[in-house]
Amino acid sequence: MSVYLEVPSGFATQIVIPESPSTEHLPQTPWLLLGDEAVRPVWHSFKLPEPPVCSWVKTSEASKRMEVMLPWFEQWSKSNINRNHTLVVVGGGLMTDMGGLAASLYMRGIKWHAWPTSLLGQIDASIGGKTAVNLDSGKNMVGTFHHPEHVVIISEFLESLPKRHLMAGKWELIKMALIEGDLNWAEALLDGVFPNIKDVERAIKLKINIVHQDFREEGNRRLLNLGHTFGHAFESASNHTILHGEAVGLGVLAACYYSERMNFGVFPPTLIEKMAKQLAPLSFHIPEWDKCLQFIMKDKKKKNEVDTYFIVPIPGSPPIQQTISPVVLESIHARLLKLVSLC
Ligand SMILES: NC(=O)c1ccc[n+]([C@@H]2O[C@H](COP(=O)([O-])OP(=O)(O)OC[C@H]3O[C@@H](n4cnc5c(N)ncnc54)[C@H](O)[C@@H]3O)[C@@H](O)[C@H]2O)c1
Ligand SMILES: [Zn+2]
Repeated sequence: MSVYLEVPSGFATQIVIPESPSTEHLPQTPWLLLGDEAVRPVWHSFKLPEPPVCSWVKTSEASKRMEVMLPWFEQWSKSNINRNHTLVVVGGGLMTDMGGLAASLYMRGIKWHAWPTSLLGQIDASIGGKTAVNLDSGKNMVGTFHHPEHVVIISEFLESLPKRHLMAGKWELIKMALIEGDLNWAEALLDGVFPNIKDVERAIKLKINIVHQDFREEGNRRLLNLGHTFGHAFESASNHTILHGEAVGLGVLAACYYSERMNFGVFPPTLIEKMAKQLAPLSFHIPEWDKCLQFIMKDKKKKNEVDTYFIVPIPGSPPIQQTISPVVLESIHARLLKLVSLC
């Protein structure tokens, strides 16, 4: 039996968790497929069909770029794809970000469904309608808001996901636990190896409720950027040696440290120690401050020419937003380096 997650009235996306992979949730109207080639064998092993117009593409953060999408549009147009078609996007966050953007641009917008195949894709990237590609100057600098009509969550996809990517997705789950203010959940996630479908469901519900209140990110949706001020900078400045989820983990730890320094409360020492220990292998890849600053200065979420919005986790309560200066960010960066390299 498939479970439909309850969504607030008016929310544009239906989220379904089928018991097992099946054709039941594919569009009943004409459709085309755009998928990450890494998951093609998995799609076939689930005995899922391919429509006549179907592309499996190589994905990487370096090719998450506008020019990569243009040949897709040419091919779709030559194949008479029109507004009656639904684009089914199969892959991790990279693929759903690009596929969602392609769906919002082709013929000024066609419907799309997301079949996220990574943990990060299932709990975060496919939910909330943000689509994007990168520019040289920074992450996700060109994009749209275009909700998928359906998101189909199949946990079996996670069985083939490389372990490093599974762990990277776990940091976005830990971020969600801190946004909820539930430190026990955060610690349980740090202790567990494989997040279960209940964790996935819980994170999705939390994200839906936040997004529904503030689709265009003018208020509370910004809280979802916990860990992302440093996260995006680390990811870009390390040339994507650090994965998105890993960079967010480092950013969350930095934000916890800042919260304690500002006397917002004290996190359980075991929580901070476990985070630092699990992030320690990345310490050699954390880019130096000057490199990070270049990307922080170009952040879309900057308040003004100098200051940056920063999301501060509060032990046991939802986070708050503050604006902080580069000087303060530099001191947090230095402290983070110390915290993770001491482990
Ligand atoms: N739109 C949003 O709201 C939002 C939110 C968070 C992150 N993102 C974006 O998501 C991207 C990261 O997503 P990601 O972590 O899923 O990375 P990803 O899409 O690169 O997938 C991770 C790796 O696993 C492979 N893969 C994916 N699913 C697989 C499976 N089931 N079996 C085997 N291999 C599989 C991919 O080919 C890739 O090598 C970033 O670009 C980030 O900016 C977007
Ligand atoms: Zn993220």
